[in-house]
Amino acid sequence: MTDALHTTAINILKTNDRGSYTVPTEGLYPFQWNWDSCLTALGQRHFDPDRALTEIETLFQHQWPCGMVPHIVFHEQDDGYFPGPEVWGCRRPIPTSGITQPPVAGFALRRLLDSAPDLRDRARPLLEKITAWHRWFHATRDPQGTGLVAIIHPWESGRDNAVDWDLPFERVPTDGVTPYTRRDTQHADPAHRPTQDQYDRYIWLVERFRSLGWQTDRLHDASPFQVVDPGFNGILIRACLDLADLAEDLGEIAIAGENRMLAQRGLAALTALWSDAHGQYLCLDRHSQTLIDSPSSGGLLPVFAPIPAEHAARIAATIDAHGTRYRVASHAPQAPGFDSVRYWRGPVWLVVNYMIADGMRHAGQTEAAQRITSASLDLIRDSGFAEYYDPLTGTGLGGKQFTWTAAMVLEFLTDPG
Ligand code: GLC
Repeated sequence: MTDALHTTAINILKTNDRGSYTVPTEGLYPFQWNWDSCLTALGQRHFDPDRALTEIETLFQHQWPCGMVPHIVFHEQDDGYFPGPEVWGCRRPIPTSGITQPPVAGFALRRLLDSAPDLRDRARPLLEKITAWHRWFHATRDPQGTGLVAIIHPWESGRDNAVDWDLPFERVPTDGVTPYTRRDTQHADPAHRPTQDQYDRYIWLVERFRSLGWQTDRLHDASPFQVVDPGFNGILIRACLDLADLAEDLGEIAIAGENRMLAQRGLAALTALWSDAHGQYLCLDRHSQTLIDSPSSGGLLPVFAPIPAEHAARIAATIDAHGTRYRVASHAPQAPGFDSVRYWRGPVWLVVNYMIADGMRHAGQTEAAQRITSASLDLIRDSGFAEYYDPLTGTGLGGKQFTWTAAMVLEFLTDPG
């Protein structure tokens, strides 16, 4: 069975490979996505490390001069996706979106090079590029110098329709949005996708940023949506630390120092987002300066960074208390807003499981890590390589033959919690 999973996972990665980048799945997502690609490289490293490095290099070829790495690169024309390049209007040589995604690149690069040290010289230019991205985050998304960065669009979190955004989204209007036709609901069940009202607000934000000419240093202050997502910051902190280690090994001392400093500031500031009542971290609405009472997987993900040991232990207990057959639910099943089939409002996502399990292992919570790994592989055996899964029944939902799900399976099989 394990062998069959392994072979199927590799086949999916190869089927979705477009030469120098990999699409998340055919149809629903026909371009290159930022954090999908970096996590995909982790799967590719098991059978073609060279190709894995290309995946990350391709993404960084489309980095903006300001340092931002866009969340989508529209390598080829495809009308099957909305919003396409004309809606973003970013005026890049190869069209891209104008927002970003969770910065897992530093972590992925380090893990890839740990298993393929002969690629280090080729990878060296990426150290500066990834650092420029980290620097950009702190310069443009933390103008007050708090140590934590904000997202200005829910798509940046990677958790598009999380319950976390419901309250801050009330500040985003829907009037004046150019009429459009959604394409996602033609590929997937509308009951498993974000609502129409949420889509109107997603597009309103895109049009607002486009009207400002995508000057990324102006968008944070101009956005009615500014949220400090603990999971996003946990990923950034971990990526800074991994990149710092890698840079030290390669003798790039200045790069190492800068990343370590950013990580330390982030870690110190993260504590303010801890909720004892929930046994996890919470998002901060930067406009109202209040914590958002929404226990999502975004508040569990900081365990990916070296948070205090007692917080890691509480997070392990919180996941146990979810009580779902399959873990990790993207929203606490006991909390308002939970929906076991609707995208990021309850379903399990393997990439999140992977990062939480990895963090648990580093924190010494090996049994908690093992439980997540087993639950993840059970899902694949029961329901195949779906985009996401119902945590109660294990039903596979959304897109099929999903790239990053396959990549995570290769990781789980090789490096079981
Ligand atoms: C969805 C997910 C996002 C992912 C993208 C491509 O938008 O919410 O996290 O990057 O699909 O798979």
